[in-house]
Amino acid sequence: MAFPERRLRRLRRTPALRRMVAETHVGPDDLIAPLFIREGIDQPNAIESLPGVVQHTVDSARREAAELTALGVPAVILFGVPATKDATGSQSCDPDGIVQVALRALKADLGDDLVLIADLCVDEYTDHGHCGVVRDDGTVDNDATLELYTMAAVAQARAGADIVAPSGMMDGQVAAIRYALDQDDHPEIPILAYAAKYASALYGPFRDAVDVTIAGGGDRKGYQQDPANVRESMEEMEADLSEGADMLMVKPALAYLDVLSRARSRFDVPLAAYHVSGEYAMVKAAGERGWIDADAVMREHLLGIKRAGADLILTYAARQIAEEHAR
Ligand code: PBG
Repeated sequence: MAFPERRLRRLRRTPALRRMVAETHVGPDDLIAPLFIREGIDQPNAIESLPGVVQHTVDSARREAAELTALGVPAVILFGVPATKDATGSQSCDPDGIVQVALRALKADLGDDLVLIADLCVDEYTDHGHCGVVRDDGTVDNDATLELYTMAAVAQARAGADIVAPSGMMDGQVAAIRYALDQDDHPEIPILAYAAKYASALYGPFRDAVDVTIAGGGDRKGYQQDPANVRESMEEMEADLSEGADMLMVKPALAYLDVLSRARSRFDVPLAAYHVSGEYAMVKAAGERGWIDADAVMREHLLGIKRAGADLILTYAARQIAEEHAR
């Protein structure tokens, strides 16, 4: 006998055989598409560092959301780019703020056919670019920031958000938001917690997309997590669940697959991963140079994220993947 009894290559012989034994599949149901909506423009704006992604007008966001729905993508997450920014990011909780306007329009168009997730943070709305209230010494005031988040959560829920997703990494944000939503009679609105969110260098293109520059060359290391730590993520996730989070997120994705995998074995709630702007942009840029096959690498990235334990993937490639699936 020249061969062992079980030859692993037997099950790799044809595409149908491989498909039959594949352990992991990524399809439209797994995807959440980020949408940027910019106030005060009348044509969508391309974002140079995110090829294929635009800053939408409310109208173009409505068309995009309808098309994503038809392609079977279950959810979008909305980010606003306001026309005016101030110290407390007041447009984040204004009923006429751009995200609230977009939420009302999308809800009117699509009802319950598309899940509307509102990213809940203030950095897109503050003139200093931090995710909260900045003290005189330049640090971010945790508890004063929680007040801003509760007001934004209520404004988003009133405007039609189906889920709010706090991304600011303040301590106690989930508890504060849960309390505020319940007080305002939105006990049915779930919280998707950006629970393990790292101070990553991979958010650059996103900051172009939302016109954010952190004042004085600052960074978010005082509130987002240190990429060196994984046990700390488990603490973050335990804390968010105990405060009432319904779903957890790990962000970014590929450099943090160990975090995702540990979270998967430890928690049974739905787990999301954010394949962030820098991860998407690297694939696109190398693809443009002809150095890699960008479509194939994108699929491989998302498959790896799912295999590591994510139920849901936030990705700028959502539309592309759903279109491939429809073919
Ligand atoms: C904060 C927020 C950021 C991202 C999502 N929500 C930026 C940041 O923390 O600086 C980044 C997403 C991406 O890079 O795709 N509101």
